Amino acid sequence: MCGIVGYVGANNAGDFLLNGLRRLEYRGYDSAGIAITNESQFHVTRSVGRIDALAGRLGSNPVDGKLGIGHTRWATHGPATEENAHPHLGGEGEIVLVHNGVIENFQILKNELIEKGYVFSSATDSEVVAHLIAEGLKVTKETPEQPTLRYAQAVQWAIAQLRGTYGIVVAFRDHPDLLIAARFGSPLVLGVGQGEYFVASDSSPLAGCTDRIVYMADHQLAILTPDGFTVLHRDQGKVNVQIQPLEAVEDDVSLQGYDHYMLKEIYEQPESLRNAMRGRLDEENATAVFGGLNLTPQQLRSVERIILTGCGTSWHSALVGEYLIEELARIPVSVEYASELRYRNPPIENNTLVFGLTQSGETADTLAALRETKRKGHRTLAICNVVGSSIAQAADGGVYLHAGPEIGVASTKAYTSQCSVLAMLALYFGRIRHLSYEAGTNIIADLMKAPGAVQEALACNEHVKTVAEKYQNATNILYLGRQLNFPTALEGALKLKEISYVHAEGYPAAEMKHGPIALVDETTPSVFIVPQGTTYDKVMANMEEVKARGGPIIAVASKDDPHIDAVADDVIHIPDVPSIIQPIVSVVPLQLLSYHIALLRGCDVDKPRNLAKSVTVE
Ligand code: G6P
Repeated sequence: MCGIVGYVGANNAGDFLLNGLRRLEYRGYDSAGIAITNESQFHVTRSVGRIDALAGRLGSNPVDGKLGIGHTRWATHGPATEENAHPHLGGEGEIVLVHNGVIENFQILKNELIEKGYVFSSATDSEVVAHLIAEGLKVTKETPEQPTLRYAQAVQWAIAQLRGTYGIVVAFRDHPDLLIAARFGSPLVLGVGQGEYFVASDSSPLAGCTDRIVYMADHQLAILTPDGFTVLHRDQGKVNVQIQPLEAVEDDVSLQGYDHYMLKEIYEQPESLRNAMRGRLDEENATAVFGGLNLTPQQLRSVERIILTGCGTSWHSALVGEYLIEELARIPVSVEYASELRYRNPPIENNTLVFGLTQSGETADTLAALRETKRKGHRTLAICNVVGSSIAQAADGGVYLHAGPEIGVASTKAYTSQCSVLAMLALYFGRIRHLSYEAGTNIIADLMKAPGAVQEALACNEHVKTVAEKYQNATNILYLGRQLNFPTALEGALKLKEISYVHAEGYPAAEMKHGPIALVDETTPSVFIVPQGTTYDKVMANMEEVKARGGPIIAVASKDDPHIDAVADDVIHIPDVPSIIQPIVSVVPLQLLSYHIALLRGCDVDKPRNLAKSVTVE
């Protein structure tokens, strides 16, 4: 979703702003813009579409300046037009602002500002904040000994009236070397350089610019000049923030020879799985270890129920977790859409542990669901990829995925890492309950096979490409699997929808005859996930039902399956693996299938239409 960058220092702001916006492209956006201060004037350039279009405009009209802000916008209030793109000017051009988040009371504030004579040039909620800060400058007084204070007070005065969420960065015409950043509900980080300071909505634009970072917290406001920075809290005044090292991520955010981030991330899975498991499998005690749960074994033993919540792909990994935790630890698990959980008021027993699953750590619904359950006194934990993200900060503890930056909007490596973390948690909970040492040892051996098995599964890529060529014009595809392979069916269907815009549905294979079978004809292919396992025969029977109705069949099956060729039209073989890692291995061909179909249909794989990587609005 929307992205923010800001710069103040000794160097040319434009270079950082453009590079930074490119690094934020993965979040999803439909327009972009930057403002650079030069000789006490704002030079604002905005454009609909990709950063390249913005760079083209700037190239023909370059602006030098040592302070600037930039933004990528994912439209919420008002369509993707140049007028609605950020930055927005406030008052009569005294301030310029970029904003992430949603201002819920913007219409009331807008009406009041119009009455006071403010003129609006966009349909956005963000422009309201710009004018409100300009109004704030009128109602605050200059303090000669602390010239920046008045500007901070004006911003504080304005944000105190906002209902909703915001991450804002503001520049001032009359104080051309001052930036003010403030956040509530939308993440902001500060980069601390030598005589230069950076602001961004996540750490990716800072890579290569500085290795020192500050994660801003809600209700904090940062004052940045070339000479230093100060952070104020709404209630606590000046706060001493922790400057943390920024891990070197430069290499991870480049394509490294791959055509797309999605393909690169699919191929990174053997390594990301190793990273998720590194140091967490304790062979001596036949269990898993987690450093960040912040709960004692005694507290964990008393857990009577687990809720797993998330959105999209993360919700699918929660379904995998449900099977594994119930099977290995015998703890009842329920899986909840975070967007539903946050407003539903389910009875939640004492001793319930709530896990929020999220790649980005910023999904607004997941954050709100965790906050709501935490408010009710339940323990909340995050299974999250992005270090220092809002959800990682809000939870009582958690487990990082260590998958490295995931840039492609369609989640791949984060999903398989989530599945492996959930499998390790199932082992851990099982081993502090009834699971034997021997069973624990076997599960560890099974989990350790995952990276190699995924590597082997990736060898199907060329074959999957030919399957994609055959089915590229389908307009409707069913994905069917049972038990642990049912979430895989859902995930395969979601991947296809997200990036190729082909309608797809995932179903438990046996449920198919209660409705979806009506869709089956020779134009509607079905993808069956049917590796060896307890329900193999049952799924084969479901496959026959589809075949009898003329439906083309693509099967994802174990490599030595002697029966599959007789029934399926196309078979994609995967290694024969223990059931606990089947979801991790069998999803790989489905990721590749959606990738190739999307490419063949001419879709923008890494930046699918209408989608955002980090959904920071409800
Ligand atoms: C967006 C993305 C999905 C993702 C979901 C949850 O909708 O397009 O691919 O699965 O958000 O994201 P999270 O970062 O919370 O896992």
